[in-house]
Amino acid sequence: MKMLSDHQKVVLIGDGAVGSAFAYAMVNQGLSEELVIINHTESKAIGDAMDLEDAIPNLSPLRIDAGDYSACKDADIVVLCAGAPQKDGETRLQLVTKNIKIVTDITKKVVETGFNGIFIVAANPVDVMAYAVLKQSGFPSEQVISSGTSLDTARLKVALAKRFNVDPQDINVNILGEHGDSEFAAYSSANISGIPLLSLISQKGINLQELFDIENQVRNKAYRIISKKGATYYGVATAIARIAKAILRDESAVLTVGCCLEGAYGYNDIYIGTPAVIGAGGIESIIELPLNVLEKNEMETSVTTLKKVISDALL
Ligand code: LAC
Repeated sequence: MKMLSDHQKVVLIGDGAVGSAFAYAMVNQGLSEELVIINHTESKAIGDAMDLEDAIPNLSPLRIDAGDYSACKDADIVVLCAGAPQKDGETRLQLVTKNIKIVTDITKKVVETGFNGIFIVAANPVDVMAYAVLKQSGFPSEQVISSGTSLDTARLKVALAKRFNVDPQDINVNILGEHGDSEFAAYSSANISGIPLLSLISQKGINLQELFDIENQVRNKAYRIISKKGATYYGVATAIARIAKAILRDESAVLTVGCCLEGAYGYNDIYIGTPAVIGAGGIESIIELPLNVLEKNEMETSVTTLKKVISDALL
């Protein structure tokens, strides 16, 4: 198990819209002692470090610098946000060819420094990119986490919270599978304050179809945001910060993230969104949710879709 250092350090690679929103979340939440930003165009990293350090006097102490790969050597976490973002009308899977080389090259450089911390991978398509990082790094799979369906799960909680008039944090529900078009809501295990969601809807006279409509809206939410403002970043950046916090504070928090399956749900050697216990060592264990027949089929579709993309990309 990876032990955390006394001086906690996070390195962000890729200072675009998602990366810089993550850096801002880190600074605002005071998540580590040090944050180093690496970016292809160095001036953007330098400018962001200068801008973000001006926030520190109004927050908690945190050293923030622009840097190069040598900063990764003693980092606890490397957050990988580099790569082309999804454009209007583009699916996440269409980004594979653009991003696989970028992500593989970066991983090689990071590992060459002697880095032995936790990778959090957020470049899209995230499940495929995490797989590429795992293979390139040769790390144990618990040290490579993808943001997976963390954001989608948050989106589902937001939508259900509006419908049921409760705090989203009191809703236990997960989006599982691919972070993308084949993701699905595991409604059969969902509950609000312990009351199964499927019982709650019959008590309230809500039609099951409405839950499926909500799931569909969540599945398409990124497209809707991108069509309005060109990108999504606050939601995913906060989800990444939440994962980083669970590692840095050794929380053993149950979070929905992307994990490499090694037998869970009956699959191997594939990154999939699932709840998992996250602490200092990365993924401490995967929580395999019980799935009904429909959900098992949806999981199969996600796994098959991603395996095909991976084999086409010759990973
Ligand atoms: C989204 C992008 C980050 O779902 O994939 O918003």
